[in-house]
Amino acid sequence: MNGDTPALHLDGIPPDTLRKVQPYLEPFQLSQAKLLEVSARLNKDMVLGLGKTTHHRAAVKMLPTFVRATPDGTEKGDFLALDLGGTNFRVLHVRVVEEEQKVLKMDSQICAIPKEIMLGTGEQLFDHIAACLGDFLVSQNLKGQTLPLGFTFSFPCEQKEIDKSILIRWTKGFNCSGVEGKDVVKLLKEAIHRRGDYDIGSVAMVNDTVGTMMSCGYKDQSCEIGMIIGTGTNACYMEEMRNVKRVEGEDGRMCINTEWGGFGDDGSLKDIQTEFDVVVDKTSINPGVHIFEKMISGMYLGEIVRLLLVRLAKDKLLFKGRTSEALRTPYTFETKFISEIEDLVNTLRILTDLGLEWESVDCAIVRLVCDTISSRSADLCAAALATITNRIRTNRGLSHLKTTVGVDGTVYRKHPKFSEKLRATVRRLAPECDITFLVSEDGSGKGAAMVTAVALRLARQSRL
Ligand code: GLC
Repeated sequence: MNGDTPALHLDGIPPDTLRKVQPYLEPFQLSQAKLLEVSARLNKDMVLGLGKTTHHRAAVKMLPTFVRATPDGTEKGDFLALDLGGTNFRVLHVRVVEEEQKVLKMDSQICAIPKEIMLGTGEQLFDHIAACLGDFLVSQNLKGQTLPLGFTFSFPCEQKEIDKSILIRWTKGFNCSGVEGKDVVKLLKEAIHRRGDYDIGSVAMVNDTVGTMMSCGYKDQSCEIGMIIGTGTNACYMEEMRNVKRVEGEDGRMCINTEWGGFGDDGSLKDIQTEFDVVVDKTSINPGVHIFEKMISGMYLGEIVRLLLVRLAKDKLLFKGRTSEALRTPYTFETKFISEIEDLVNTLRILTDLGLEWESVDCAIVRLVCDTISSRSADLCAAALATITNRIRTNRGLSHLKTTVGVDGTVYRKHPKFSEKLRATVRRLAPECDITFLVSEDGSGKGAAMVTAVALRLARQSRL
C-alpha cells in the first residue's frame, strides 16, 4: 500500500483473524495499476460518448449542457431556483450582486417528496413541485413577478438547448411514470399553467454538477470541473467544442455532463465488481444501470458494508457467527454510519442499536470493513477525476495543468477521511495536474441561479 494513504483500522485485530478477514476485503483494494487501467478505460468511453455516431450506445453519456461559459463576474439580478435530485427538494430565491461579486441566498424552503410521489406519476410529481413553488412565492411576496428560474434536475438528461431537456432515465430511487423521454421544462411549465395563479420567466436546466462548478466559478474563475459524491456520483467539465461532435460549431468550449455513474453499464467494470456489488445492483430498482455509481455513492455504500458484515458473520469471523434481524434487513446499515464509525464510541452505539452482540475485535473488524469500502469509493472517484484533468490537460497541449474542481455531496463533505484519500490518490494518478478542491456553497441552489445569469448575459451580449 502507498505511503501517503491514510492508515486503516487494524488495531485490535489479532494477526490470525486479520489473515482470515483479508481475503474478503482484497477485491475492494484496487492497486495503482488497476486504477490507472480504470482511468484509461473511462477515457475511451468518454470519447465514445462525445462521438457523433457512437454516443447512442455509449455507457458514459457525455451530455452537452449548453453552458458555454463560466461566470465572468458581471452577472446580476434576482432568480428562482429549484433543486430536485439529492436528499431533498428545495425552492430558493437567489440574488446575484455584481458590485460585490456575491451570490446571496435570500430565502429557501425545503419540501418533502413523499415516497408515493417519487414512485407515482409524472403529473403528480410536477403538480407537487408547482405547488411548493407557488407557496414559496406567496411567502416571499414574489407572486406578481416573473423571475427567471434555474432548475437543478440531477438526473441524466439529453439537452437540446439550455431550456429543453429530455429525461433519459431516472436514477437514485426516483421512478415516476411518463417522464422518461419527455421534456422536463415543458412538464414543469404545464403544471404551472394548470394552476394558473403565477408564472415564471426563462428557464435554465442544470445538472447538480454544473451548478456546483458554476457556484465555485464566481469565486475562482479557473473552476472548470464540478463533481458530486453524495446520494449519486457524477462530474462535469469544460470540453473543447471541436471535440463535442454532436453540437454544431468548433469554437470555444461547452460544459459536458459526463454522467460517469453509468460507467460499466456495458459490462466494462466486471473485473472490479465484487460479488457484493453484483447483489447491490441486482436488488436495486434499476438493475444494470449506473454500475459505477453503485460502487461509490452514498445511496449504496452502507448496503455494501452490510452485505459484507453478514457474510463475515455467516463465516464465523464476526459476532461469534450471529447476526441480528436488523443487520439482515436491506439498507438498515446507513451510509452515514460509515463516517460515524471512524469514532470508536459511535461504533459501539451503532452495533448495539443494530441489535448485535459484539466484542472489541468485532468493532475493529467492522471499522476495517467500513474503511475499506469508503476507501475504494474515494479511489474510484480519484481515478475518474484523474481521467478528466488529464483530458483537459492534453486537450490544451499542456505538460502541466493547474485547475480547480468544485465539489459537493454528503459523502465528500461528511466522511472525515474521504477528501484526504481522494486527493492523495488523484495526486498519484495524475501527477501532472495540480488540482485545487473548492467545496461548493450550495451549488444546486446558487449555482443554478448562476447558470441562468450567465445564459442571460450571453443572450444579452449576442443581441448587442
Ligand atoms: C446521478 C444522476 C446525475 C447526478 C448525480 C449526482 O448519477 O444521474 O445526473 O449528477 O446522481 O447527484
